[in-house]
Amino acid sequence: DANGHKAGKTRNFLEKMEETGKNCIIFYGSQTGTAEDYASRLAKEGSSRFGLKTMIADLEDYDYENLDQFPDDKVAMFVLATYGEGEPTDNAVEFYEFIKGDDVQFSKSEEAEDPEKPLKSLKYVAFGLGNNTYEHYNVMVRNVDKYLIKFGAVRIGEAGEGDDGAGTMEEDFLAWKEPMWSHVAEKFNLEEREAVYDPVFAVTERDDLTADSATVYLGEPNKNHLEGQSKGPYNSHNPYIAPIAESDELFTSKDRNCLHLEVDISGSNLTYQTGDHIAVWPTNSGLEVDRFINIAGLEEKRHTVIGVKGLDATARVPFPTPTTYDTVVRYHMEICGAVSRQFLDTLSAFAPDEEAKAEMKKLGTDKDYFQQKVSSQYLNIAQALKMVSSKPWSAIPFSAFIEGLNKIQPRYYSISSSSQAQPKKVSITAVVEEIKTENGHVVKGVTTNYLLALKQKQHGISDPDPHGLNYAINGPRNKYDGIHIPVHIRHSNFKLPSDPSKPIIMIGPGTGVAPFRGFVQERAAQAAKGEKVGKTVLFFGCRKRDEDYIYQNDWKKWSEALGDNFVMHTAFSREQKEKVYVQHLLKKAATEINELLEKQKANFYVCGDAAVMARDVNNTLADIISEKRGVSKENAQDVVKGMRSRGIYQEDVWS
Ligand code: 2AM
Repeated sequence: DANGHKAGKTRNFLEKMEETGKNCIIFYGSQTGTAEDYASRLAKEGSSRFGLKTMIADLEDYDYENLDQFPDDKVAMFVLATYGEGEPTDNAVEFYEFIKGDDVQFSKSEEAEDPEKPLKSLKYVAFGLGNNTYEHYNVMVRNVDKYLIKFGAVRIGEAGEGDDGAGTMEEDFLAWKEPMWSHVAEKFNLEEREAVYDPVFAVTERDDLTADSATVYLGEPNKNHLEGQSKGPYNSHNPYIAPIAESDELFTSKDRNCLHLEVDISGSNLTYQTGDHIAVWPTNSGLEVDRFINIAGLEEKRHTVIGVKGLDATARVPFPTPTTYDTVVRYHMEICGAVSRQFLDTLSAFAPDEEAKAEMKKLGTDKDYFQQKVSSQYLNIAQALKMVSSKPWSAIPFSAFIEGLNKIQPRYYSISSSSQAQPKKVSITAVVEEIKTENGHVVKGVTTNYLLALKQKQHGISDPDPHGLNYAINGPRNKYDGIHIPVHIRHSNFKLPSDPSKPIIMIGPGTGVAPFRGFVQERAAQAAKGEKVGKTVLFFGCRKRDEDYIYQNDWKKWSEALGDNFVMHTAFSREQKEKVYVQHLLKKAATEINELLEKQKANFYVCGDAAVMARDVNNTLADIISEKRGVSKENAQDVVKGMRSRGIYQEDVWS
C-alpha cells in the first residue's frame, strides 16, 4: 500500500504471537542494524536461558491499535535507536507517530474500564541506543517509555540507555540486560536454566546444486537481480546496481587517499536532492573473507551450496538462499565489525580444545580483559578466534555466525553534488583511512577500501588493490558488466533555503565539505542562470594547502559565477605550530557572521565530525552571539538552540 506495507502478511502482532505460540515479542527500531541485532540477541537469550517463546518484530511490520489487548501473562520488549536530531529510525516512524499522537485510539478505547489507562495489561522492558554527542540523546526510548507509562503500561526494570558517543554501547547493553532478566524472571516466575546453544537456523549443504547453478545466489540482493531483471523502487531492501561514471583520487598521502566518485543513476528511477545521502552496499575484502573462512574451518567447502531455514516460524533468514558459505561471508555478514563479548562467550562451547575454551570464557566474561585483548586492538571476529587458537574452529555451527554477527549494512555518504546541476549523477567524496593500534595492528575501512579498489579497477590499474585487500569487484558471477556499486538514496533534511537569495554560512572541514560542494555547485548554477543568489560563505579546513585541499578547481570555477558573493575561509591546521581550525576562523569573522545571521537571516550549516568539531563550532557560534549581541553565554546557547529548532542551524554530522 501507500506506506509500503507488504501485501498478504498480517499486521496484527497479537494474531502472529497467537499463531506461533509466542509469549515474548521484541520490537526494534533500527537504522544501522544494531538495535535489530540486540533484539535478536534478547530473543535468543530469552528462549535459551528462560524458556520464553520469543519473536522479534520490525516496528514497521505491524499496527499498534491493539496494544491495549496485550495479554498480561506476556511481555513486550522495545529496543529503540534514536536517529540524527532526535528522530525515530525510518522503520519506527509510523509507530512513533501513533504512540505520541494527541488522540491515540486503541482498539477497545470505547469500552475500556479505565479509559485513562488503556495499556495497563502491557508489561514491557525498554532499551535505547543513542549517542551523547548529539543533543537529543536517546529521546526515542525516553519518549516511548513516557507515553507507554502515561497510558498505564507497566515497565519491568529500568529503561536502559546505550551510548555510542562514549563507545560503551555494548557494555551498556550487557549491564542493562542482566538485572532486566532477573526482574522479568521474577515477574513471570521463570526458571533460569543452563544456557545451551540452540541454533536459530538450519543450514543444509545441498549436493544437488553447484555454485554456478542459475538459482544459486552469489551476492545478488534478491530474486529480480538474480534473474537479471532488477526493477525499482530502489530502496534499502532493493539497491540499484549503479555504474560508476567517473572516479578520481583527490589526493594521496602516506596514510590517506581521498576519492571522488560519480555514480550514474540515469538507468533507474532514483532521484535525489542536494543535501541527501547515498547509501553504498559494501563487499568484504577477499583478505578478510579468506581469514574468516580459514579460521572457521570452511576452506574445503567455501563454494558448497547451502540452504538456510529458520527453525522457528518467526526467524527470518537475513539473506537470499540457496547460496554458498563464501557468498554469505563476503556479501552479507559484517565480519570486520566490532566483536561482541557475549558472542565470544557463546562460541566458547565450540572451542577446538580446553585451553581455548577457558580463554574464550575469560574473554566473554571479564570486561577489562576483553577490552584489553580485543576491543582496544579493534580485532574482528576471525582475528579474535585466531588469537585464542589458530586451530580451525570447525565445531562452530554456521547458524551461530548468522545469529552472532550483524548483517552487512549500507554505508551512508553525504552527496557532494547538486541535483539541479546534475540530477542523474551523484557525487561521493570519501576518505580512505586506516587506524593503527598501539601494537601496530592495522585496521582498514571496509567500504572506503572497496570504493578505492573499484576506482583502481576502473582506471585499468593492473594492481586493482593497492592495499592488498583483494576485493571481488561486482561478484564472482560478474553479472554486472563494468564497474558498479549497489546504492540507494536516503532523503535528508539538510537543505538549502528554498529562496536562493538568502545567505548561507557553511562549516565543513575535511570530507565534511562534501554536501557544501553540492550547495556551492547549485548556487553557481543558479547564478549562471541569472537568479539572484545571496552570500555564500564556506569555512573549509584541512592539514595543508598542498596536501589535502580538495576541490580547488571547483571552487575557482564556481566563484566565477558567484563573484564576490562566494567567500571561502580556509584553515590549514598543520602549516604552523599552532593548530588553526575552522572555528578559529569563524571567531575571527565574528562581526560578519553575526550580521549575516541577525540582519540578513542567513542559514548556518555544519557537516563533519560530531564528537568534537561540531560541538566546538556550536560553542564558538554561541560565543560570537554572546559577544556581539551583549547577552550572557547561557542566553547565547539558547539562541543557538532556537536556531536549531527553527531549522536555521542544520547539522549533517557523523561519529
Ligand atoms: P588536524 O588533523 O591537523 O588536527 C580535516 O580533517 C581538518 O579538520 C584537519 O585540518 C584537522 O586538523 C581538522 N580538525 C581536527 N579536529 C578538529 C576540531 N576539533 N575542530 C575543527 N577542525 C578539526
